[in-house]
Amino acid sequence: MRTALAGRRLTAAVVGEAPEAAWEEHVQRAAHPVAYPALRSARNRPVVRVPRIGVVVSDAALAREVLLDPDHFSKVGPGAPSDLWTPVLGPSVLLNMEGAEHAALRRALGPLFSPRAVRRLVAADGAGDTDGAGVLPDLTRRLADGETVDFAAAVSAQAGAVICGMVGLPPTDDAVRSSMAAAQTITGMVRLHRHGLTRSQVTQARAVLERLTAPARAAYRAGDSATVPGRMRDLGLSEREAMGAVGAFVLTGTETIQSFVPRLVAIAHDTGWTARLLADDAQLRRRAVEEGLRVTVPTPAMLRSVRGPASVGGVPVAAGDRVVIATVNCCRAAGGFDPDRPVDPAVRHLWFGAGPHFCLGMPLAVAQVDAVLDALAAAASDGRVPVVGRRRAAHGVLVPAYRSLKLSMRAVGGAGFPEVAA
Ligand code: HEM
Repeated sequence: MRTALAGRRLTAAVVGEAPEAAWEEHVQRAAHPVAYPALRSARNRPVVRVPRIGVVVSDAALAREVLLDPDHFSKVGPGAPSDLWTPVLGPSVLLNMEGAEHAALRRALGPLFSPRAVRRLVAADGAGDTDGAGVLPDLTRRLADGETVDFAAAVSAQAGAVICGMVGLPPTDDAVRSSMAAAQTITGMVRLHRHGLTRSQVTQARAVLERLTAPARAAYRAGDSATVPGRMRDLGLSEREAMGAVGAFVLTGTETIQSFVPRLVAIAHDTGWTARLLADDAQLRRRAVEEGLRVTVPTPAMLRSVRGPASVGGVPVAAGDRVVIATVNCCRAAGGFDPDRPVDPAVRHLWFGAGPHFCLGMPLAVAQVDAVLDALAAAASDGRVPVVGRRRAAHGVLVPAYRSLKLSMRAVGGAGFPEVAA
């Protein structure tokens, strides 16, 4: 079921591409009109210096070499994530740490991402309730009843409910909305061509984060093991470490999900994969989800600061240089969405990073994606499939995403929605 692109306002650069590739390009450019084309222009060279951006790596094997060598390429230092996040989150929040302290904090946080803990968090929006309350049961019900829903908003509400679970808030509509808005206010300040935040951005980000994590602090102090902050205390984390980790989870783990799931469903729609994605076949779904991650790359780049003289793929680098792993280039070199094509081992899971900073939240991410797909599959149990209608890309966000993506159920083989870009 390939749909025609009638999006008049898609840029000339994407005209002529397959619909899923054209929409992806549009979503990426809406988020980063300057940095994305600059990164993509480096895609045919394994390593190249790009003025104002850094030493850009577009080859998966070289990217792994950098990520697995924290002695030379660090997350702490000029141009690294520490420049962005330390002023806001403090010095010890995993993504701005290295060495033994980093490994110890990761070990301490590990149990929060056990299968049981993750199931509990994902069910925090009420998905497991027997009375059917909650974001995902509501999504299933509305679709099954024939409503057109904004799928991007539903995924955002679900991601917000998980944040509420993490910070120890009940997932009321208001709490969910304001948690998501708070996370986005902070991440939306980040631009790849700037190495840090301005002083006023740091002040604003700190104030927003302080409000967002206030209930987490109270939950930590109360030591309630039913909450994530309470569990952090049980696991031996100090209040400072626990609040830093909550902040890091909120900033890394919400927009990625909000970005990925609607883009996956849109790609499945554009390539005729929806029925297979939602079929009762775990292996097929896993392949389609992994392929969706490979082509969307929700975290399009990873930053490292060079600690001392070294070389990357033959290009000499010096202390203080910034290395930009263009994960989006590394992962997309193999071509467009095709779950039937074997994945190059160098690329596999690179979308979650590699080495000591490999995504700690991967089990939670996978569980969240599965929960949303289960909700769609439940609506499709009568043989209809969700069909994408009008969609709009989000502008000025850190993680490229759809601002809205309309879905409704149609009989397989029935006419889809006309496609309209914004
Ligand atoms: C599709 C969703 C996600 C993707 C594609 C993704 C991707 C990544 C990547 C690429 C990194 C490594 C960055 C680097 O090395 O510079 C990372 C780290 C991290 N992610 Fe995720 N992530 C996702 C969801 C989540 C979720 C749901 C959480 C939940 C809390 C999370 C928490 C983290 C944390 C805490 C780190 C830092 C780990 C460290 O520095 O030791 N992520 N993620």
